[in-house]
Amino acid sequence: MPRICSDHTMTVQKCNILQGKKGLIFGALDERSLAWHVAKRCMECGADIVLTNTPQALQLGTLPNLAQQAGVPIVPCDATDINDIRHLLTQAQTLLGGSIDFVLHSVAQSLNLRRHRTYEKVNYDYFLKTLDISALSLHKILQAALDMNAISQGGSVVTLTYLASERYLYGYNDMADAKAMLESIVRQMGAIYGTAHGVRVNAISQSATNTKAGTQWDEQACFSRYVNDLSPLGAADADDCADLCVTLFSDFTRKVTMQTIYNDGGFAHTMLTGQLMSEFRNTIDN
Ligand SMILES: NC(=O)c1ccc[n+]([C@@H]2O[C@H](COP(=O)([O-])OP(=O)(O)OC[C@H]3O[C@@H](n4cnc5c(N)ncnc54)[C@H](O)[C@@H]3O)[C@@H](O)[C@H]2O)c1
Repeated sequence: MPRICSDHTMTVQKCNILQGKKGLIFGALDERSLAWHVAKRCMECGADIVLTNTPQALQLGTLPNLAQQAGVPIVPCDATDINDIRHLLTQAQTLLGGSIDFVLHSVAQSLNLRRHRTYEKVNYDYFLKTLDISALSLHKILQAALDMNAISQGGSVVTLTYLASERYLYGYNDMADAKAMLESIVRQMGAIYGTAHGVRVNAISQSATNTKAGTQWDEQACFSRYVNDLSPLGAADADDCADLCVTLFSDFTRKVTMQTIYNDGGFAHTMLTGQLMSEFRNTIDN
């Protein structure tokens, strides 16, 4: 069945561009998670997948039910723990029947954000944990995968990032530092893994989206309207993110690597739209 896109003017056809590919997806917590949207789309496009999240997340979230309904295996893993990662990579290859063709890293958490500690008053233990979970975890996954030769030649790794890595965004806190580090890891490991095994590593800089992690940030609700109004194509939703991930996992993007790709309707490159200008003008006139 074709799927109607977020702007209701287009449909995306079901296709088989991931037929025969084996994927590992980190970070689906519940039905709102970006990773769950990506997982569903990968399956629709013909991939076999394994899902993973922390043991705590598997207890708190709805992933076990979702995975059971979809007939997909889950292997628990704390993505900050190198032993867990090695175990996961072994298990995933056994379950999938061979080496992994694509990986989605959709992992982030900030205790400073969750506990409403402002940036100038961060707790440094929380700060280090934010960096470990939200950035270094990608390094650890790639280091283990490289060492175990777990990702196939020509494979593709995608992580999810946010524009606050490069611009100040009020209230985004230590997650901005984590995202900057994450994008640097994408470039460095992309060069190393590309040279060694032809594996691509990219980041998608996604529009603000209404998920559990997205709503951790206090300002998300009022920000989403501003973002949508300032994006010439409108903000990208979770299904848009899933479609771009599938494209990056496919062989059609075999020479794309070490990039931060904006999936944001043009937001990152727009100062002011005509619509917002009219609204400001009306406010001043009235
Ligand atoms: N929602 C947005 O507005 C938005 C925008 C741009 C980028 N992103 C990024 O997308 C990714 C997914 O976020 P989301 O919005 O789908 O929210 P989400 O809360 O559904 O996903 C975050 C996931 O990280 C997992 N996680 C936390 N600690 C972990 C650990 N130690 N090991 C393994 N997994 C762990 C959580 O269990 C959860 O499943 C994050 O990197 C987030 O920063 C989100």
